[in-house]
Amino acid sequence: MLPPTMGLLTNGSGDSTPLKFLIYGKTGWIGGLLGRLCEERGIPYAYGLGRLENRAQLEADIGSVSPTHVFNAAGVTGRPNVDWCETHKVETIRANVVGTLTLADACRERGLILLNYATGCIFEYDETHLLGSGIGFREEDTPNFVGSFYSKTKAMVEDLLKNYENVCTLRVRMPISSDLSNPRNFITKITRYEKVVDIPNSMTILDELLPISIEMAKRNLTGIWNFTNPGVVSHNEILQMYREYIDPSFSWKNFTLEEQAKVIVAPRSNNELDTTKLKTEFPDLLPIKQSLIKYVFKPNQKSSAA
Ligand SMILES: NC(=O)c1ccc[n+]([C@@H]2O[C@H](COP(=O)([O-])OP(=O)(O)OC[C@H]3O[C@@H](n4cnc5c(N)ncnc54)[C@H](OP(=O)(O)O)[C@@H]3O)[C@@H](O)[C@H]2O)c1
Repeated sequence: MLPPTMGLLTNGSGDSTPLKFLIYGKTGWIGGLLGRLCEERGIPYAYGLGRLENRAQLEADIGSVSPTHVFNAAGVTGRPNVDWCETHKVETIRANVVGTLTLADACRERGLILLNYATGCIFEYDETHLLGSGIGFREEDTPNFVGSFYSKTKAMVEDLLKNYENVCTLRVRMPISSDLSNPRNFITKITRYEKVVDIPNSMTILDELLPISIEMAKRNLTGIWNFTNPGVVSHNEILQMYREYIDPSFSWKNFTLEEQAKVIVAPRSNNELDTTKLKTEFPDLLPIKQSLIKYVFKPNQKSSAA
């Protein structure tokens, strides 16, 4: 468990500077959670007012807030899901490519680190990273999944952002939080689907990892980071835990990837990410199944279950 942030940034020389965060994505899921986390920890923060692609507005935000760090939790994810991006390509490019790059560039000009909540859905299992092999994609691997337009824009922007030494790219995957009423939560999504595939994947428990992203800002970390819990968990394993801890009467139906392809527009990515780099920096990081139980299922456990 990480100690609560004291609202101070300790630099290498031992001096302390007060933290102040500028956050984009006020109305979004991750941006909303991040703001609440700052409040709980007494970290001063403000939400950016600008649209990402509007450089003048971003510069005005940076000028008026004077942040120590900028967090980007803004981006187009599509509603009801990423299939939306297939028919809204220009809007997707505007936010996810033009917008994200504009923010990174504006931050660089001001000497600010940008912590960017990106995605790990830019990889898919292949012959050197076989499903079940335990061999995950590493930070330096080249994305091999561009099956959806959403993933394609995210892979493009990640590649360009490598040139910005002020950017910390956090590859989030299939995020899960303890709020099981949130329709964006991966668990909530799969409990509401008529049928689900059953594939092991790397996933991000936000309750554990969002505080780590704050800690990463304090440590001024940059570069690419696989931002998931170690290991993989399958859809059925999650649904079994759901039945055990939340609803003993819960049941579900599986279908194959081929059958799933008939009800979605763009293919979805399935992969394991190698978390050695993150685990080395944060040795207490829990394996995915332990994190699910500690942060999600135990706190939501119904007295009649388990
Ligand atoms: N949720 C996931 O499954 C998932 C998985 C991996 C990675 N991520 C990434 O994590 C980030 C945050 O995800 P999320 O689930 O919190 O997304 P979300 O709930 O859909 O929220 C997106 C946020 O981005 C803002 N936004 C969109 N376009 C913008 C623009 N051009 N300028 C400024 N703000 C803009 C939205 O504001 P408005 O409402 O004002 O448009 C909203 O506040 C995204 O980049 C996403 O790709 C998400």
